[in-house]
Amino acid sequence: MARIIDAPLTSAPEGSCDPRSVHGTWGALDAAARRGLAFTPEVKAKTDHLYEKVKHVIPAVEWPAYAPLIAAINEMKAAKNAVILAHNYMTSEIFHCVGDFRGDSLQLAREAAETDAAVIVQAGVHFMAETSKILAPDKTVLIPDLRAGCSLAASITGADVRLIKARYPGVPVVTYVNTSADVKAESDVCCTSSNAAAVVEWAAREWQTDRVILLPDEFLAKNVATQTGIRIISWHGRCEVHERFSAEDIAELRAAHPGIVVLAHPECPPDVMAASDFAGSTAALQDYVVEKRPGKVVLLTECSMSDNVAMAAPDVDFIRPCNLCPHMKRITLEGIYDALANMQHEVTIPEDVRARAEHAIQRMLDLPKEKPRAFETGRAPVAVELV
Ligand code: 13P
Ligand code: SF4
Repeated sequence: MARIIDAPLTSAPEGSCDPRSVHGTWGALDAAARRGLAFTPEVKAKTDHLYEKVKHVIPAVEWPAYAPLIAAINEMKAAKNAVILAHNYMTSEIFHCVGDFRGDSLQLAREAAETDAAVIVQAGVHFMAETSKILAPDKTVLIPDLRAGCSLAASITGADVRLIKARYPGVPVVTYVNTSADVKAESDVCCTSSNAAAVVEWAAREWQTDRVILLPDEFLAKNVATQTGIRIISWHGRCEVHERFSAEDIAELRAAHPGIVVLAHPECPPDVMAASDFAGSTAALQDYVVEKRPGKVVLLTECSMSDNVAMAAPDVDFIRPCNLCPHMKRITLEGIYDALANMQHEVTIPEDVRARAEHAIQRMLDLPKEKPRAFETGRAPVAVELV
């Protein structure tokens, strides 16, 4: 059951779910000092405009702990021709203050393929850094913490995919980008939550079949099956963050907040999707809030999303379910600083694996570019075959 915090995150009292308290402000106020950095008048002048962006989330008293790291990271980026790709789940001091490109998995993959920078720092999890390396093999790709994994990516190996292919010859294999390079290399085409239904429909047409293998997320597969009517074969992977939301949570939210608009990510269970008002990738959820401006909204996804979207929609009242992704939260300003200062934690992939994985990702990127596709909610669940 998700914990619901019905208050804006303006401070982090004891017991708070403030994601920054997992690693940051409270435990490592001296992170900047340990790196020889201080909150000088110059640092203040260089970062005041950035504080304006995050003051709804970071109390003024905490800013001197962050600002020196932010100023130093931004200087190193310029000196080393580096860019930071920041996923929507990053905490605000990373997302708004050092991120150069921000977005969902698909948007970040496109940026990795297109950037002219020599160095990419992935402010996201390991499979995202691998995706960047796959698409930008000549660039140095760094991840601030090599332990930033993903329960979906950990659920399946390339050897598993080979066994599945042997069992279902001729059936196209679509893999979610939340997988390792080894798994992508065994796949026909990749998808993200922005385009999963479109890619599955495309694969069924290309292979002239009514069956598609969609790995490894059981819930995404079930949710795509309700949208497409295509018979889906899937795996028992789950996102440890989104699987915790339930239809009962939504009933409680609606009872406590009449009129609330409920938005869900498609890694949520099908009954959660059915009970929501709108569903889609993290980019689709952001677009919905910014365009529709609901009076009160809840995002059934990772904790930090609400903070980041709130900047673009300050008039919207966010009810914040406190489900943290422990892997995303391994990425910190200190980690980004150390990665750039020492050029450490470089992501590498054997060339034969990379080239095959690139083929699967490129097929996805070559499909017509469209807005993140929403999942129609309220639909009756459809069964999928789990291998
Ligand atoms: P998006 O592609 O929607 O950003 O999702 C990535 C992810 O890891 C969600 O848990
Ligand atoms: Fe993986 Fe879930 Fe974390 Fe996304 S939120 S990175 S799917 S564990």
